[in-house]
Amino acid sequence: MTQYNMGKILVTGGAGYIGSHTVVELQQQGFEVIIIDNLSNSHAGVVDRIAEITGIRPEFHRFDLIDWKETKAFFESHRDLSGIIHFAAFKAVGESVEDPLRYYRNNLDSLINILQGMKDYKVKNLVFSSSCTVYGQPDSLPVKETSPIKEAWSPYGNTKQMSEQILRFSVGTYGLKTIALRYFNPTGAHESALIGELPIGIPNNLVPFITQTAIGKREFLRVFGSDYDTPDGTAIRDYIHVVDLAKAHIVAVNRMISGGTKSDFEIFNLGTGNGFSVLEVIRSFEKVSGKKLNYRIVERRSGDIEKVWADTSLANGELGWKSEKSIDEMMLSAWNWELALAKSSAKK
Ligand code: UD1
Repeated sequence: MTQYNMGKILVTGGAGYIGSHTVVELQQQGFEVIIIDNLSNSHAGVVDRIAEITGIRPEFHRFDLIDWKETKAFFESHRDLSGIIHFAAFKAVGESVEDPLRYYRNNLDSLINILQGMKDYKVKNLVFSSSCTVYGQPDSLPVKETSPIKEAWSPYGNTKQMSEQILRFSVGTYGLKTIALRYFNPTGAHESALIGELPIGIPNNLVPFITQTAIGKREFLRVFGSDYDTPDGTAIRDYIHVVDLAKAHIVAVNRMISGGTKSDFEIFNLGTGNGFSVLEVIRSFEKVSGKKLNYRIVERRSGDIEKVWADTSLANGELGWKSEKSIDEMMLSAWNWELALAKSSAKK
């Protein structure tokens, strides 16, 4: 009897932060997982860690999805995929401003190659990693899936908007089905502390910067702006635990495989529905870690919006999915992950 009974899922970017957590959940639900990753922002060791958590080593292919020849050869030799979760993309806002073409080429060409492979090799189901960045600064909060898509604030954000449009216009024509998941701010790490967010170089995102400061890798955290129109003046985001987020992908895959989708292109917000300010995140971190964080208030970061949080009623009602973990659980797991990283690098 085979170990897998739910079908085969290709996870692009499966060695990355959200990808690796999703691979673990998929395997634990009985899916067979195949990873494609070029390791441009991740490490091959993540595949070992996944195997350590689940006891199952996922099949792993290292290549770049912007290479059509390699992508085609992959589809040619994998003709029994039940679906694809496409995470592989660049995601640093600042970097995208410095080199927009690199972002457009990478994020759009890889999506187009995946769609071409799906069309040519008859793979029907795709879950696409989108972002709340497509909303810009919404006119009203919480933001709903039907809220207008605003002018993008960065090439990165624009690639997510364009990807959604490419999908919208392609799926019907080729008989494909897509669920685009708009993530709010993913954070935290797996409870095993074997996988987590592993930024290469200086982190852009708040939570890895907090944990790296607390462990002594960074001198202090800069809090970007305290003059926003929010209760404590710092910017507000909807932080969501990466394991909660990962679980939503399994729900989305099952919905497509079982024929439960209501249209060939569905979109869901994935957040908790609660906004936390930068200072509130710091307080939560200090509480769960017992560490005092060294931070300084500085100027606003250009391109940052003031506040955003999700209306999650569509995902709650339609997908039957709800985030479960609190901000304290997010901070504690992120801290445990940082501690585990420090331990393993001390051993080397
Ligand atoms: C950004 C993108 C989001 C993308 C994510 C992935 C936008 C509007 N958002 O999220 O789409 O998916 O990056 O990387 O394009 N902060 C500090 N000090 C720091 C770092 C951050 O105060 O050192 C503050 C920021 O000003 C912001 C909050 O913390 O208010 C969260 O920042 P960050 O983690 O970088 O995420 P976003 O910018 O919200």
